[in-house]
Amino acid sequence: MHTSSLFIILGLLHCLYLTQAYISCSSKDFCPDDSKCCPFYTTEGILAYGCLPSNPHIKGPGSCCIEETLTESTTGCAGNFKCSLQNETKVCTLSTETETIVMMPRYQLFPIPDSKSIGNIYGFPIEYRERYDGRGPVAAYYSNKGPILTYTLPEYTHTEIQAVVIVVHGSGRNADEYLYSMNNVANLQKEFKPENILVIAPNFLAVEDGVYSVPVVMDDNTTIQSSPMKWNETDPIPHTWRYGANALDSFDEYSSYQVMDAIIEAMIEKYEKGNDGFRHLERIICAGHSAGGQFIQRWALTSNSYIWNDDKHSGRIHVHTNRISSIKKLRKIQMKRKLPDIIAVVANPRSYAYLDSRRWRNSTYFGEPTMKQKQNCKTYDSWEWGLANGGILTCPYKDETISMFHGNISKIAERYSKRNVIYFSGINDTEILHGSCEDDGFQGRFRRKRSLFFYESLNKLFGRYVHSRVEIENVGHDHSLIFEDPKAISALFQASSSN
Ligand SMILES: *[C@@H]1O[C@H](CO)[C@@H](O)[C@H](O)[C@H]1NC(C)=O
Ligand SMILES: *[C@@H]1O[C@H](CO)[C@@H](O)[C@H](O)[C@H]1NC(C)=O
Ligand SMILES: *[C@@H]1O[C@H](CO)[C@@H](O)[C@H](O)[C@H]1NC(C)=O
Ligand SMILES: *[C@@H]1O[C@H](CO)[C@@H](O)[C@H](O)[C@H]1NC(C)=O
Ligand SMILES: *[C@@H]1O[C@H](CO)[C@@H](O)[C@H](O)[C@H]1NC(C)=O
Ligand SMILES: *[C@@H]1O[C@H](CO)[C@@H](O)[C@H](O)[C@H]1NC(C)=O
Repeated sequence: MHTSSLFIILGLLHCLYLTQAYISCSSKDFCPDDSKCCPFYTTEGILAYGCLPSNPHIKGPGSCCIEETLTESTTGCAGNFKCSLQNETKVCTLSTETETIVMMPRYQLFPIPDSKSIGNIYGFPIEYRERYDGRGPVAAYYSNKGPILTYTLPEYTHTEIQAVVIVVHGSGRNADEYLYSMNNVANLQKEFKPENILVIAPNFLAVEDGVYSVPVVMDDNTTIQSSPMKWNETDPIPHTWRYGANALDSFDEYSSYQVMDAIIEAMIEKYEKGNDGFRHLERIICAGHSAGGQFIQRWALTSNSYIWNDDKHSGRIHVHTNRISSIKKLRKIQMKRKLPDIIAVVANPRSYAYLDSRRWRNSTYFGEPTMKQKQNCKTYDSWEWGLANGGILTCPYKDETISMFHGNISKIAERYSKRNVIYFSGINDTEILHGSCEDDGFQGRFRRKRSLFFYESLNKLFGRYVHSRVEIENVGHDHSLIFEDPKAISALFQASSSN
């Protein structure tokens, strides 16, 4: 590697052993591991760096594009693609053997947001937040503005948060990289001032990640070091956090989906209380790509949190009993004040949780699978692929939702249809997948097809199109390029409220 990796090991005092490596571009500029520092001069003439992500799906080193003029950001190309211009538009191109030119968009690379962002992992106490004493469950996260609970302190409140983007990483668990690319998106959109967007990237850690302690920074800036929640990364299937499995060891009563609920509830509490910094919160965008896309779809289907502001039939609140009274109080306030919009964004997942037992048998026929198909894959409609009984993937969070609706799945489906969900699909995400029978035999051969099939299944189920779906041209399985696409950006930031 041409850059040195920096291992951050803080002293025993802080008990923090972070084995994740970061690239240092300069003494003060960091990039996420596996990315590449792209230097450029800002309009103020200052040497700055963008971070070119590595794309595991495209072979080759990647290249930083040279900017001819002073700019606020730089660009880069994946793999062996070259920086080039097509009709005055900055693109990446690759000439193939047959002389056809393949085109891809450029990565948009802004300077690293804040010294407290890349390279600083924090802990979020998902229970007992007001009186956290170091013992409750703590979820690891990155943020573009440092610790998220202190944001109401006077030091920060010169900016008012209007949008929160919570982005869930894929199977690589590279939350810092997702934080960086979503921060680029925050800089590209024109709906809000970029500094009014708070980006949070939860990290669903595995034991292999070696993160033993993270600083939990509370509302008043008191800090307690704590051991973060981790998930079984391999059993019974890879990335168990993606289907809402409970965490390991002492946090085994807590689902990965409660992490999402808790972070959003905390943001909404600040908004409800009229706290400086959050008074003007308008929307909370919850986006995930790949395994993170799976996470978001299943969470948006099963979450019972009050954040969704569903109709009465949506039922009770998914929090520990000791918090219900405070939430009830909040609900009263909600009557007076509109809650921020919650938008769930599901990008390029490998599979979906279907809403009934039908599947597409081919591109025209949607119905019950054949007896033979069912016999060959008995769990095709069990969790995480559907809401039917059976299967081996345990998810008490989902079970609670099913029992809340007395087992009536169509009521859960109906509630889901009314939530604001957007599906993003890369036109070039066409790799033929070989995984489990539930995916390969019932959901389509590749991710773009799976996206289309699932979206069309909603039309069959409800007799009309619900939610929305955006296809992104010239992009494959790449979270940065998906979210940085102009069509994606307008879907994320300009979508009007559907409720
Ligand atoms: C470039 O622009 C011209 C004129 O607007 C158009 O006809 C042509 O199709 C464009 N080429 C590409 C590759 O987009
Ligand atoms: C919060 O604590 C950190 C570390 O102890 C300190 O550097 C920072 O200045 C504090 N911020 C505020 C607003 O008190
Ligand atoms: C994951 O689960 C498997 C099967 O139960 C178990 O053998 C393994 O130890 C677990 N891994 C961790 C890190 O707990
Ligand atoms: C799709 O499947 C249905 C039901 O098995 C069958 O009747 C139909 O002919 C198939 N269509 C195509 C195009 O294969
Ligand atoms: C389930 O809910 C749907 C929609 O509300 C309703 O039409 C149906 O009768 C319910 N089914 C059962 C078995 O209660
Ligand atoms: C994406 O797919 C289109 C249509 O199949 C193809 O023309 C284009 O070359 C592909 N782009 C890349 C970057 O693979």
